[in-house]
Amino acid sequence: MAIYPPEKRIWWSEPLDRMEITWISIAFVWGLVMFGAMIWWHINGRQNLSNEAYRVDPSAFDERTEAMVDQYTVREEGDSGFPVVHPPPGSEIYLRARLWEWYPILELEKDQSYRLHLSSMDWQHGFSLQPANINIQVHPNYEMVLTIEPNKAGEYAVICNEYCGIGHHTMLGKIYVVE
Ligand code: CUA
Repeated sequence: MAIYPPEKRIWWSEPLDRMEITWISIAFVWGLVMFGAMIWWHINGRQNLSNEAYRVDPSAFDERTEAMVDQYTVREEGDSGFPVVHPPPGSEIYLRARLWEWYPILELEKDQSYRLHLSSMDWQHGFSLQPANINIQVHPNYEMVLTIEPNKAGEYAVICNEYCGIGHHTMLGKIYVVE
């Protein structure tokens, strides 16, 4: 019981039990191994993206997205009126998350590099690119910036993997990668 002080007042000067120091050492060394593994996996892992994060005002992000859409829309998706945007390789591209859509549909060229900006207009969403299985959290007031180089042509789905309310399951987007 800690109501009473310990009998021996200077309890901290006692030598450590061998078992205790052994476990402390193991935990300390394992911590260092895991720290090293984090760096190693960042360089050698297949899903670890070197993303950058910056503060951004949602309305400023919205403006940049709209500017890209105005400039580079090439067609509509079916008869939905939803823009498909084909920005030039090497450019800054934007994907806006909000309740409950990913906007716009991006069409990218294979083996070309882009700077992809992700942000949310309202609250937290999850960017999950399928079937590549790349996952990034998307927050309002921050933009995640990734340098990407699609290496396989095809149609990719963007699904939201953070529960964001009643329409969460309908929050689907698309990215095309063309030759
Ligand atoms: Cu957005 Cu779930």
